[in-house]
Amino acid sequence: LSAEPTRPWPLVVRVARPDDHDAVMAFATTTWDGWDYIPRAWPHWLTAPDGVLLVATAGRAHGGRPAIDTDGNEIRDDLPIAVARVAMLSPTEAWLEGIRVDPRVRGQGVATDFQVAELDWAAAAGATVVRYATGERNEASHRLGARHGFEVLAEFRLWQWHAAPPDEAGGHDEEEPSGFDDAVRAEANRARARVLDLLGGEGLACRSSEAATWWQRLTADGTFERAHGLCEQRGWTMQQLTRAMFEHHVARGEVLCREDASDGWSLAILTRDAAPAEDADLKFGLVAGRLEPFARLAGAVRLAAGRPISFWLPHPDPPLVDRRDEALNQEGFYPRPWSLHVLSRPLDAHNPPPTAHSPDALVLADEPVPLQPLVDVPPSA
Ligand SMILES: CC(C)(COP(=O)(O)OP(=O)(O)OC[C@H]1O[C@@H](n2cnc3c(N)ncnc32)[C@H](O)[C@@H]1OP(=O)(O)O)[C@@H](O)C(=O)NCCC(=O)NCCS
Repeated sequence: LSAEPTRPWPLVVRVARPDDHDAVMAFATTTWDGWDYIPRAWPHWLTAPDGVLLVATAGRAHGGRPAIDTDGNEIRDDLPIAVARVAMLSPTEAWLEGIRVDPRVRGQGVATDFQVAELDWAAAAGATVVRYATGERNEASHRLGARHGFEVLAEFRLWQWHAAPPDEAGGHDEEEPSGFDDAVRAEANRARARVLDLLGGEGLACRSSEAATWWQRLTADGTFERAHGLCEQRGWTMQQLTRAMFEHHVARGEVLCREDASDGWSLAILTRDAAPAEDADLKFGLVAGRLEPFARLAGAVRLAAGRPISFWLPHPDPPLVDRRDEALNQEGFYPRPWSLHVLSRPLDAHNPPPTAHSPDALVLADEPVPLQPLVDVPPSA
């Protein structure tokens, strides 16, 4: 059973402002072994229309007394003590990301109440489902989600190309360029376009006349089913691939497919214009089908790209791999040694946004407003 928060002061949630920068960076710069992407996401997230960047501050306790942190120090009025973003991946799918609570106030229900505010924003934006992703080992994040009905929906591993077998894949490479950097992203997108045009020229891009056949194959595919029909459109987010979106990708030459007489078929989606995200890798948003044609397809993309590429596969035992990991290893692809969990909860009349642990524990200082979804492809005719 979860302990109820005992914090004697209300959490006040408002939209982040440029002048919150220093206060947020003071607790959101070194979260993971001295590293965090929030400093690079900050300038983009402050204004990006597909989401809202929220900060939480400490309101006054009863009798106007200032809030006190876990070390016994006063917390200044209006000072951010937590940050989080709510984004709309499509008109009905909300995505929670970037939650960080200042260590000086952790363990007091700040994230729990902040999450109520996030769900209020998601509901106002029209979400019928809310998801987020976290590392399999992030117990606090899993417990936080569980407080408001989130359950693990799917588990993925990131497979990356390596010139030599990695001894210990995992840790973050400090030197990795950030896809929040416009120049880095533009360069990566040029590489994506080059790859798609090259492979399209070799007849490896699905044609619009074949879209229905490939959609049928995809929806009957075991790997797609294990991925719960999810697809990465923006780095490190997962959303439902609808038929309309699939056709949209086909029309843009972004669906690569290959069929071999003896080995069957494989399909991979590579978007032309990656949306701003920390990760600027050339990454397939979705892969499906059989191992051999996929290995050939991925090898061709890697050669055309002239740089490492990566893709997500459901874990464990993705049907595509068919327990023959060494066939992908031979092409230079190895999975990271940890899984990404995608958690999900519905948001509808039967599953309304929760309320804070007590009526005066949470104040929404800004009224939630609609957001502009990242992908808004109308349903196909
Ligand atoms: C995760 C985080 C946001 C939680 O913030 P918080 O304000 O301390 O959380 P709360 O006090 O509201 O607690 C929420 C739940 O997490 C649990 N929890 C909090 N810290 C924990 C920890 N270090 N280990 C295990 N569980 C923890 C709480 O016990 C509670 O669960 P319960 O009700 O089942 O007991 C905070 O620890 C943080 O900023 N961590 C670093 C960033 C991060 O991991 N973000 C999530 C990435 S997806």
